[in-house]
Amino acid sequence: MSTFQNIITENKEGILTITINRPDKLNALNKNTIEELSTALKTAETNDSVKVIILTGSGQKAFVAGADISEFANYNGEQGKALSADGHVKLFDLLQNLTKPVIAAVNGFALGGGLELAMACHIRIASDNAKMGLPEVSLGVIPGYGGTQRLTQLVGKGKALEMIMTADMITAEDALKWGLVNHVTTQDNLLIKCNEMASKIISRSPSAIASAIRSVNANFQDGVNGFEVEIEEFGKCFVTQDFKEGTTAFLEKRKPKFTGK
Ligand code: COA
Repeated sequence: MSTFQNIITENKEGILTITINRPDKLNALNKNTIEELSTALKTAETNDSVKVIILTGSGQKAFVAGADISEFANYNGEQGKALSADGHVKLFDLLQNLTKPVIAAVNGFALGGGLELAMACHIRIASDNAKMGLPEVSLGVIPGYGGTQRLTQLVGKGKALEMIMTADMITAEDALKWGLVNHVTTQDNLLIKCNEMASKIISRSPSAIASAIRSVNANFQDGVNGFEVEIEEFGKCFVTQDFKEGTTAFLEKRKPKFTGK
């Protein structure tokens, strides 16, 4: 039984769907929601029955319309800094470094912290009504949950600064063109498409996928040589049962049965 107030979790055949459930506030991320997402993700990381995670928002209108503005409107500098630092550790970095794939199903507005949340996921699929943006400078702040970094990594410096400085929302179609999302689909098909991709990923080796996530993430870590991380992770794969199973199944012309060990 889930004890969450702001999110709904459902695990079906290895796919854990986490739905942020504050539709009357367009699923804005308040402190409790961040805590609950953090707890759900940490639990998922160690739960063998979870293979892939889909993160979405409830209702037809929003994925997440940002951090909850009502919570931080009166913060001072110290509190603002702590809000950002805490969010990075508790949720956004946790999400990026999770060794189980996380797909963001962007079903509507993904603004501010909402777009930052989607960008911390490994893959983004958007519905055609989705609108994405980092409107923080219209409130007198900057993106504080990794947006200045992850948007730049995904779309490049010019487009990132354009989005951040104009505070404009872009359409799902533009997000696709710019490489901000992987696919666009109708709202009705969004979770179907995400589940199809999740099912495909589940058929692959979980231990190799974890190695792939660590290697790709190394590309963005200061002072870390991603090629060296790749070499290490590549070597580690050879001692896994998944490697033995994958190569044996290929040679025996059958489908592999991976355990993630
Ligand atoms: N924080 C807190 N509450 C939010 C919110 C946020 N980021 N985004 C939306 N809400 C709340 C609204 O205050 C409103 O609550 P109310 O009914 O109690 O007044 C409710 O969600 C519905 O939003 P509303 O603005 O009435 O919907 P809309 O369709 O007219 O506009 C948006 C939709 C997304 C354009 C608009 O809500 C918006 O600009 N939100 C803020 C986006 C933002 O700046 N995010 C970055 C935060 S750092």
